[in-house]
Amino acid sequence: MEFNLEYLVRENIKNLSPYSTARHEFSGEARVMLDANENATGSPVTLSINEQHELLNRYPDPVQLKLKERISAIKGIPFENIFAGNGSDEAIDVLIRIFCEPGFDNIITLPPTYGMYSVAAAINNIKVKEVPLNADFQMNIQGIADAVDEYTKIIFICSPNNPSGNSITRQDIEIILNNFDGIVVVDEAYINYARQKTLSLQLMDHPNLVVLQTLSKAWGLAALRLGLAFAGKEIIQLMNNVKYPYNINIATQELALQGLQQIEKVNTWIHDCIEQRDWLEKELKQLPYTQKVYPSDANFLLVKMTGANDIFKYLQQKGIIVRNRSNIPGCADCLRITVGTENENRILIDTLKAYTA
Ligand SMILES: Cc1ncc(COP(=O)(O)O)c(C=O)c1O
Repeated sequence: MEFNLEYLVRENIKNLSPYSTARHEFSGEARVMLDANENATGSPVTLSINEQHELLNRYPDPVQLKLKERISAIKGIPFENIFAGNGSDEAIDVLIRIFCEPGFDNIITLPPTYGMYSVAAAINNIKVKEVPLNADFQMNIQGIADAVDEYTKIIFICSPNNPSGNSITRQDIEIILNNFDGIVVVDEAYINYARQKTLSLQLMDHPNLVVLQTLSKAWGLAALRLGLAFAGKEIIQLMNNVKYPYNINIATQELALQGLQQIEKVNTWIHDCIEQRDWLEKELKQLPYTQKVYPSDANFLLVKMTGANDIFKYLQQKGIIVRNRSNIPGCADCLRITVGTENENRILIDTLKAYTA
């Protein structure tokens, strides 16, 4: 069977008349805006950026034009292939709502992986078929082929994968893209730290591909909540139809625009983070209770340690919070440790060196 978007989209979404505002329908420079029942007088607080103070009484741009133009220039992806969400978590939820019929359809996830795919599915009453990654945290292609049925609408591939940190091989992702007729979401939240290149420039080759990225990681803007999806323009149009009209607030739009000017700073941070990751890896490997540090293409390391639960509690007592992944399948005795600043990483290693079982 060929990829057929019409067939994949839920009937109610295909027939949806999306919410439209008067400003969607007007493209000139407005002189008097009396269409949206805003407070015409002003706002009690303003948004201050670079000594400019912007009023907050007007609704923000629902299509985020300026922001997407900037992202388009940076990423080399046309404006109409970009969706902006309230974090990539919004994109995950919106995709499930577009393609998956509650109570009937299913998605495939590849555990251990990012938890929100299955949470968003559960909220929408969508069954999750889990096909565990193998011991190297790569895909079980045959297992995925066996799990796919006529109700499978989306496969979520996280690359680099959270919590294992490795990239999924390009070759395997392409096998899935070429052989699965549903939507393949490749979550590239950590792509800036990876040796592997983004798939977002391959949208033309794969009509079923959706790539997720976020400003929450390398860009250092987690608090703004801005996630991105790149896909064919029909898929992006559907996502825009389903999202809340003003899903990205004006502070996020304006501050993200400012942040996106700082590419050099961000590139330096990425470089430093990778250096620190390598240092941490070397130090962690020397600890007597470390069994394995998994290779990472992300800004964290998955570490298998004898007595991981006790080490986790010990670190907590010392005021150091890492993520205990020991209880999730495929990650027995594993802690996931985010790469911190040089100072934080030193504190972590010194504290671990002082640990006795
Ligand atoms: C793989 C992955 N995808 C998405 C997200 C969430 O990103 P956002 O902050 O854009 O919602 C995370 C956050 O930890 C993540 O690990």
